[in-house]
Amino acid sequence: MRRNVVAGNWKMNNSFDQAEELLSAIADELDKIKTKASEVVVCPPFPYLEMAKDIALECDFGVGAQNVSQFDAGAYTGEISASMLASMSVKFCIIGHSERRKYFGETDETLAIKVKQLLANDIEPIFCIGELLEEREANRHFDVVKEQMEKGLFHLSADEFHGVIIAYEPVWAIGTGKTATSEQAQEMHAYIRTLISKKYGQSVADDITILYGGSCNAKNAQELFANKDVDGGLIGGASLKAEDFITIVQSF
Ligand code: PGA
Repeated sequence: MRRNVVAGNWKMNNSFDQAEELLSAIADELDKIKTKASEVVVCPPFPYLEMAKDIALECDFGVGAQNVSQFDAGAYTGEISASMLASMSVKFCIIGHSERRKYFGETDETLAIKVKQLLANDIEPIFCIGELLEEREANRHFDVVKEQMEKGLFHLSADEFHGVIIAYEPVWAIGTGKTATSEQAQEMHAYIRTLISKKYGQSVADDITILYGGSCNAKNAQELFANKDVDGGLIGGASLKAEDFITIVQSF
């Protein structure tokens, strides 16, 4: 179902104590809000998921992981399966982040398996796509995003696809302070919806939540979220400060 979502991607940041402090600060800030403008999801590193879930019980935010294994179970040292996350009632999981594609060799083919694993375990994938700077400069950004969608997601049935959140994150905007312009974001989000419509029909396309990510912050969120095809954000750096994060949550 399409809705406004703001998800915080903490990446590999914070000690246990710092994580507790930040989660409590987010909970406190959320408590002060009468009407939340969007659904809130926090994605801390794996060791803090349980703590995040405990704190989330008292105030209303979702908890997500930042990665999942493509395998079911067994001899895969260091991996975390979708069923393990489900057994902890984790409801969201980021996959396909450009950092995982770049540093851990994740391919569209692996992601196609991961997305199935998550859906089979009732976890909403936050599926990241987006082009590199040289791809945009070569005017290939639409082709790149199309290929990522086709290879990573279009093997799903329409029913399955309904359960996916998409995050468009131009790689050149991630952690660089260089945000896509409002026009660039809207243009790509509209294009993504057209791809979905061609594959699954207009009603599915209208029903999918598409987030923007890449240097989205407390100052620019409102302008980005005002675009008709932008349903919220996947927030990295700015999700590590409770006040900024909540300002973004309220930027609709
Ligand atoms: P950023 O990261 O907000 O720090 O650019 C976004 C992301 O990587 O999801």
